[in-house]
Amino acid sequence: MQVAVIGCGYVGLVAAACLAELGHDVICVDTDREKITLLNSGESLIHEEYLPELLCRHRGKRLFFSWDLEEAVRQSLIVIIAVGTPANESGDADLSYVETATREIAKALNSHKTIVEKSTVPVQTNAWIERAMALNGCSASDFDVVSNPEFLREGTAVTDFLYPDRIIVGSRNHRAAKLMRQLYGKLLDGSYSVGEGAIPAPDDAASVPLYMDTSPETSELIKHASNAFLAMKISFINAVSVIAEATGADIEDVRVGLGSDKRIGSAFLRAGIGYGGSCFPKDVSAFQAIAAACGTDFKLLQDVRQINEDQLKRFVAMVRKALWTVKGKRLAVLGLAFKSDTDDVRESPAIKVIRELLEQECQITVYDPGAMERARIVLKDSVNYAAEPYLAMNDADALLILTEWKEFAKLDLTRVRTLLKYPIVLDGRNLYSPGQMREAGLNYYSIGRPPVEVLHPVPARANVAKIG
Ligand code: UDX
Repeated sequence: MQVAVIGCGYVGLVAAACLAELGHDVICVDTDREKITLLNSGESLIHEEYLPELLCRHRGKRLFFSWDLEEAVRQSLIVIIAVGTPANESGDADLSYVETATREIAKALNSHKTIVEKSTVPVQTNAWIERAMALNGCSASDFDVVSNPEFLREGTAVTDFLYPDRIIVGSRNHRAAKLMRQLYGKLLDGSYSVGEGAIPAPDDAASVPLYMDTSPETSELIKHASNAFLAMKISFINAVSVIAEATGADIEDVRVGLGSDKRIGSAFLRAGIGYGGSCFPKDVSAFQAIAAACGTDFKLLQDVRQINEDQLKRFVAMVRKALWTVKGKRLAVLGLAFKSDTDDVRESPAIKVIRELLEQECQITVYDPGAMERARIVLKDSVNYAAEPYLAMNDADALLILTEWKEFAKLDLTRVRTLLKYPIVLDGRNLYSPGQMREAGLNYYSIGRPPVEVLHPVPARANVAKIG
């Protein structure tokens, strides 16, 4: 099938590459000409496992990049909208890029098109797209609008797309529903995974995904409810971690005990310095705004957001408490990305912690295996950049771990102990067990677990680091 994808961001680029991998002919368009030039010259733009392979495999054969939206639409049967929907000041999703794309599609319409809304959008956006098409002179018989939300995670985006848990399609007629089944045919009959050169399936991949045909409104709601629910799970465990810290319980054992109940499940129950990224913060706010527009005050979501903000402040308070005073202290920071396996620093809790500590006049040296380049754009020369983790630690007053990269869980702790001026580690992602740290002779402060104080314990004023 000939497919146009509008938007070369995370979702658009991955969807375009994966649809080409499924055998479709894809043109991916973006208004940013520099992006298109880079993609055409062989760049991948984002740090994503398997994406360079797919781009290399299909670029110039089944996958093309262009800024000519009109031509891409004219050539295509399916037009996927994958433009950004950033939060505006009031927390609503800004749909102006979706509206602009819709107008452009309407202008280019030369035959029947199925327009697929893949950007994360508020419920009823599908109906707005239909209306905008009509207002721009298109007859209802010339197009269908389908909601087909994307659930991919950064870092595992390609395998999430090719081995999804579910494919949700919201459409209003049989023709559009049938076409969407064809688009994903190779995933639905399992033929993709057994084909030659297929990207390998993750261990926990479903053999075939759940395919759900539903209404556009239901489909849109599933996407927002999914992200809000996952954010809620994270905030839930983070709120419990405060109680664990105050009572001497161990949040990691709580997580295992809680998550082993099949009704709860163990995913997204890792306590830490909170969630970040381009989706959860924006989508929780947007969902709350949608709820308000629907006449209901979804207070739970406000709490989810508040707990997330408090968690970060609690961590900074924990740093202050462990170091007694922070002004002028030299800190080594491992982790800048909002999570591991990505170079993305948007809404990164790590960057927020760094900014807060810079405000308090700390001197910070950072290292991240994937996100240094992007972090440099936002942090500029306010911090020092180390070429490898141990260089960051040299003579530092403490080590802070802020992103859950696997390599940060495998540090040579004896070397860490030797390099640090004071043997103090603050772990915002619980990558180590307190026992390991005690054995290595390191004072260790983590989330929701009793501290390890091998030398002199911090004078006890209160067990819980208060938000300050
Ligand atoms: C998320 C959704 O998972 C995905 O389905 C949607 O399409 C886009 O948004 P992503 O933003 O890539 O994906 O990141 P995700 O893996 O969900 O993690 C989000 C944040 O939560 C990260 O900052 C991560 O560190 C944090 N997190 C995650 C926790 O703090 N604890 C957990 O248990 C899981």
